[in-house]
Amino acid sequence: MKGRFITFEGGEGAGKSTQARLLAEALQMAGHEVVITREPGGTAGAEAIRGLLLACDGHDWGPRAEALLFAAARADHVERLIRPALTRGAWVICDRYLDSSRAYQGGAGGLSDEDILALHGIGSEGLLPDLTLLLTLDPDLAQRRLKLRDAGQADRIGGRAVAYHAKVAQAFERMAAEAPERFVRIEAAGAPEKVHALVMAALERM
Ligand code: TMP
Repeated sequence: MKGRFITFEGGEGAGKSTQARLLAEALQMAGHEVVITREPGGTAGAEAIRGLLLACDGHDWGPRAEALLFAAARADHVERLIRPALTRGAWVICDRYLDSSRAYQGGAGGLSDEDILALHGIGSEGLLPDLTLLLTLDPDLAQRRLKLRDAGQADRIGGRAVAYHAKVAQAFERMAAEAPERFVRIEAAGAPEKVHALVMAALERM
């Protein structure tokens, strides 16, 4: 595939969406075709599954059903949007991807990493990003940012207990330490422009 695939990962409130947008704008200015997208979502089918996954309607999925739904949404997203874009040479920037399933349904939800990767093998033929930017943020600061952003209206997963989100953060750190050739950790506490400069520096390796 001719294109490049970059993902943003991290806990809630780290500023992933803002950084994905700033990176997309910078790459577009440099003359690249850029596809900016998100998970769960990015295609009509995957957005429909997003609605099922994140609705606060009193129903709580178990971690296995949740992992299967995320993998199904990802399968549609990869097949219909990500792979075709990469094949024609575009840069694809995705706000969350496989590593979120490994951290949330795996590290925090209790499924093994092998099982999450097996689902990804079936659903998306194991497609991995070229580069994953892990935005890290002090949990207290993340909480304060989230309160401003969501005004107490967190989604079904975002609203889980502090202990769950602590496990998510630990899992992300573990993955980044285990695969330094794919991950770059970025401290996300600064102003968006400062964090964007760190993102651009991380792209040097591409
Ligand atoms: P968002 O708010 O960043 O769009 O993400 C939606 C929520 O879904 C967020 O709480 C993280 C969660 N999530 C998972 O649990 N597993 C996944 O594979 C993905 C992509 C997201």
